[in-house]
Amino acid sequence: MEEKIISVAIDGPAAAGKSTVAKRVAKLLGFTYIDTGAMYRAFTYAVIKKGLDPKVESQAITLIEGMTIELEDDGRVICNGEDVSKPIREPLVSGNVSYIAAMKPIRLALVEMQRAMANKKSVVMDGRDIGTYVLPDANVKIFQIASVETRAIRRYEENLSKGINTSLEEVEEDVRKRDYIDSHRDFAPLKPASDSVLIDTSYMDIDQVVDAVLKVIKDKTGVEACH
Ligand code: DC
Repeated sequence: MEEKIISVAIDGPAAAGKSTVAKRVAKLLGFTYIDTGAMYRAFTYAVIKKGLDPKVESQAITLIEGMTIELEDDGRVICNGEDVSKPIREPLVSGNVSYIAAMKPIRLALVEMQRAMANKKSVVMDGRDIGTYVLPDANVKIFQIASVETRAIRRYEENLSKGINTSLEEVEEDVRKRDYIDSHRDFAPLKPASDSVLIDTSYMDIDQVVDAVLKVIKDKTGVEACH
């Protein structure tokens, strides 16, 4: 019997812990984790590296043609053959990625890649518009939130552990700015899908969130993790 392809969409604002949770859930279920934010970051990095202005659409879209972005199973992000895993987390990219993500032609190109990935195998895909736009028929849709303060502290600690030096104030300002731009853009803005399950992680640790997500997946699809 052919195995059923299942898709799990995890959306929510910046630094809500989506990627940590999505990665763990994917591993426990044997699904592939797809970090769509990393794809927008990789595109942003490529634009900056070429000396183009990430705020100017006519410049940024010149890179769509021929752009390749690969998400490796070990978490590495390869853009046009280059390993960009580290630079895409630096403040220069974080501070500009929302401009790139608001450009419709770039979204359409990346969404096409994301849909192709989800067509091939069972995925846990995290982003902003997965449940509303990329995979509107996803089997499971989670909308993961946390307060701005909690999210800023989490991202700050994550940056430190990756050797990226930023102040907490800088991170909080970046989170607020991205919340605003991501939820106010015209095309596929950040918002919960009407059929999503909301999980507020402000007072939950990672294990609790992972368990909550696994329970939703089990209830909706019958699929269980083999712990
Ligand atoms: O999840 P992240 O912080 O790595 O995402 C980086 C940016 O990309 C974020 O500010 C919004 C944008 N993004 C998006 O618009 N749509 C997605 N599906 C994923 C990310």
